[in-house]
Amino acid sequence: MSILSEADLDKQTVTKAYARWAPVYDLVFGAVFERGRHAAIGAAERVGGRILEVGVGTGISLPNYSKNCRLCGVDISAPMLRKAQERVSELGLNNVEGLWVMDAEHLSFPDNSFDAVVAQYVITTVPNPEATLDEFARVLKPGGEIILVSRVGAEAGLRRSLEHWFQPAARKLGWRSEFSFERYSRWVAQSRGMSLIERRAMPPFGHFSLIRFGKDDASDRGYESEPARAAG
Ligand SMILES: C[S@@+](CC[C@H](N)C(=O)[O-])C[C@H]1O[C@@H](n2cnc3c(N)ncnc32)[C@H](O)[C@@H]1O
Repeated sequence: MSILSEADLDKQTVTKAYARWAPVYDLVFGAVFERGRHAAIGAAERVGGRILEVGVGTGISLPNYSKNCRLCGVDISAPMLRKAQERVSELGLNNVEGLWVMDAEHLSFPDNSFDAVVAQYVITTVPNPEATLDEFARVLKPGGEIILVSRVGAEAGLRRSLEHWFQPAARKLGWRSEFSFERYSRWVAQSRGMSLIERRAMPPFGHFSLIRFGKDDASDRGYESEPARAAG
């Protein structure tokens, strides 16, 4: 049995929060995250092929991918995904293979299914970020990339204290305010066949980063994670 503290995220809180965000999400978070999305899509297009967007939300990114990329989208929030479906129909996005309500931590795709797994502003909204990254690595083909845009919290100082203080309120809005890069470093160090390719600061104020992980091309044994993972 897991015991959740005030600050921890659980899926019920997150789904409730995004049901409330769905009608206004694009208006509030459209422009502010545009540069981060642009960078992530550019990185995904360089990989090309079949791309999974996790936490696809209202599908705000989908029209911006090249039509040569085949896109699959998943999200835990049905109201967010309905918006994405409307967007796909209205814009006639024929390169979208499908959109599914699915939990990032339990993806119903076989191993080695995608050339790239993209998650923009998602990792700090899931209850178990490390288990979620394990799932991304599992469904990724050897030679593929995990491409994240995510908030990176401060390691120390006043900003770290403020983020910690704000966390209970952030939880109700559906995300974490504190999340250090150290967690990514620990995850990749424990994940056989995965390596960090890039970390690049993103606006607003460099509080977000584009983070790219690669899956070992030479590996034909697939992805393996160490059995004991540090608790989040
Ligand atoms: C901050 S929004 C980001 C939406 C979009 N990627 C963007 O660029 O604006 C986070 C999204 O992640 C989704 N999400 C949160 N937890 C999830 C989970 N466990 N599995 C799948 N999607 C999840 C939310 O429903 C929401 O649509």
